[in-house]
Amino acid sequence: MTIRTVATQPIAGQKPGTSGLRKKTPVFMGHHYLENFVQSIFDVVGAQGKTFVLGGDGRYFNDRAAQVILRMAAANGAARVIVGQGAILSTPAASHLIRLNRTDGGIIMSASHNPGGPDEDFGVKFNMPNGGPAPEAVTEAMFKRTTEITEYKVVEAQDVDLSRVGRTSLAGMVVDVVDPVADYAALMEGLFDFGAIRAMFAGGFRMRMDSMCAVTGPYAVEILENRLGAARGTCVNAVPLPDFGGMHPDPNPTWAKALMDEMFGADAPDFGAASDGDGDRNMVVGRGIYVSPSDSLAVLAANAHLAPGYARGLKGVARSMPTSAAADRVAEALGIASYETPTGWKFFGNLLDAGRATICGEESFGTGSDHVREKDGLWAVLLWLNILAVRKQTVAEILAEHWAKFGRNYYSRHDFEAIATDKADAMMGALRAALPGLKGQVVEGMAIAGADDFAYTDPVDGSVSTKQGVRVMFADGSRFVLRLSGTGTEGATLRMYLERYAAGPGGLDLDPQQALAPVIRAAMGIARVAEFTGRTAPDVVT
Ligand code: G1P
Ligand code: ZN
Repeated sequence: MTIRTVATQPIAGQKPGTSGLRKKTPVFMGHHYLENFVQSIFDVVGAQGKTFVLGGDGRYFNDRAAQVILRMAAANGAARVIVGQGAILSTPAASHLIRLNRTDGGIIMSASHNPGGPDEDFGVKFNMPNGGPAPEAVTEAMFKRTTEITEYKVVEAQDVDLSRVGRTSLAGMVVDVVDPVADYAALMEGLFDFGAIRAMFAGGFRMRMDSMCAVTGPYAVEILENRLGAARGTCVNAVPLPDFGGMHPDPNPTWAKALMDEMFGADAPDFGAASDGDGDRNMVVGRGIYVSPSDSLAVLAANAHLAPGYARGLKGVARSMPTSAAADRVAEALGIASYETPTGWKFFGNLLDAGRATICGEESFGTGSDHVREKDGLWAVLLWLNILAVRKQTVAEILAEHWAKFGRNYYSRHDFEAIATDKADAMMGALRAALPGLKGQVVEGMAIAGADDFAYTDPVDGSVSTKQGVRVMFADGSRFVLRLSGTGTEGATLRMYLERYAAGPGGLDLDPQQALAPVIRAAMGIARVAEFTGRTAPDVVT
């Protein structure tokens, strides 16, 4: 075996964002691009004698990148790599394998919900031994390393056969090729009442699960159809494809339109769900009713005790700052702690590790619990199924009862995509400068009670994260939040988060866009969106 040390030079821009390093696929396939970043990971976390998990969402370049990473792991002295068959692992399944096998972390190849293909997106991220995304201090160190790198190590060897489950080796490093689904499915079986869900399906309950030609297909078929007895064909778009069949695997009403149409059409199934490229996001829909992710988090928190894995109650609930406050109301009623963190799953890790929170969620179709350290799309779907099986009500009935009890947080997110970066930065800069003067102003008939740029002090390790989103709060409890996306690969995406609370009993059945209209106008005006960006309407509304 020969270890080659290859001379290289820093490549600009290898800075991990909200969730790892994401670039256009041709950029990642460029000369030394993947190699520089992977070497920087190993230089920061150390590889000698260690065990890592490796897998990805199966998008274009996934298979070849996996071979490069294996060769580099071997050259850097790793003892063992556990890799999903075919280099496939959903993000939550990878997180579980990292924890289950008490490994030293894992490398996940994914650009999540971004499209895949030769001209689309690719990504690489490192997860820590707790199974969660590397915290900012670690990703910063990796980025710094990419700016100083002079060489990387790689073994000269043929590709490892990843098509068959079993143990093999690469230049002295053990390579364990594992079934990507088995351990994850067993974990789910331990958390949920599969018997009750099976009985519900046997009783004629119908579901549609849209995996959007991405990684959850095999997981969904095995769990929903094979183990829970859902009718064959319940899972659609269930074969992962390198280009996701041309789909944009982002489970929201815009991109999962076929599912929405079916759920709002004649003869709709009882329950619908979709998941994203790497399986950590979810959207759930009832017959004729859409469940916003913020509401989903609140309903799951209020009902989690109905599932065996959470029968003893929750320790706390955490949500990202732009997520609606619906979950806070549940936490208050349950007498448990609630936490408000910056955007990005990595901020939940400490709360989960410290046992302060059991369930976490983001408005961006992410929900999860302390069973892994990533958000988990199928987990959320299964918890909903467990709740439906126990309560024996429709999704619409469960939501109506929830709002009657807690009030309703009308909520929407408006995304303005592919804005020129300088224009977006100028807009945010002007808004930040205007913040001190906003308090007390009356806009659209609503008095501004406060405005700030969200900063977070982690209650566990004391680390501070600043500039996490501008928020403007109104006296009536309404608010809007603006921040720029940290996961895009082209220009800037402005995210505008809008929220308004209705206590009930009246006014709980409005169309969210109508209920939010004054907040939307206030946000567009105060941030001077049209003036800076030329945009008068969002590209995506969720
Ligand atoms: C987006 C979501 C965020 C999520 C992240 C990774 O990040 O808004 O909630 O954690 O993707 O899935 P953003 O593009 O807003 O930085
Ligand atoms: Zn994802």
